[in-house]
Amino acid sequence: MKSCDPAGAAARPLVSLGAGLFALLAVLSFAAAPALADGDAEAGRKVFSQCIACHRAEEGKNLIGPSLFGVHGRPAASVEGFSYSPALKNSKLTWDDASLDKYLENPTAVIRGGRMAFPGVKDPKARADVIAYLKTLHK
Ligand code: HEC
Repeated sequence: MKSCDPAGAAARPLVSLGAGLFALLAVLSFAAAPALADGDAEAGRKVFSQCIACHRAEEGKNLIGPSLFGVHGRPAASVEGFSYSPALKNSKLTWDDASLDKYLENPTAVIRGGRMAFPGVKDPKARADVIAYLKTLHK
């Protein structure tokens, strides 16, 4: 094996530059894609003002709606002591980014017979933000 290969040595930095640019472009195009997970929790805290007529962020505080503490990642209709609609109880949903996004866009259309009397958050960015905020409500 030749220990010194001038052509190969010259080509190597170019190759790694190319790989670096590729990685950079991949990161940039990922950041530009409107991903659901890109919500801003701080902005979402303000969107949550639309929810506080019926919901609290604190654990165990149920009002007209159940406490939303820890809601992200838990099965639908699983807060002890809250009287859910049969429709939500039977939904077999687990609250993740996708199911929350659909539900919050139009609650009564997604859960027919559900009791969340709320027209929904129509702006996708505001929904992503409020979902990001809900994710912060964990121990
Ligand atoms: C007018 C009252 C009201 C408003 C406003 C409201 N909700 Fe609800 N929400 C409810 C009720 C009642 C339920 C239970 C629905 C059922 O049993 O079908 C519920 C259920 C939910 C659930 C499912 C909880 C679980 O434990 O499965 C989520 C998530 C939710 N609401 C999020 C929100 C968010 C986020 C907002 C604000 C953007 C909001 N809600 C606004 C009344 C409301």
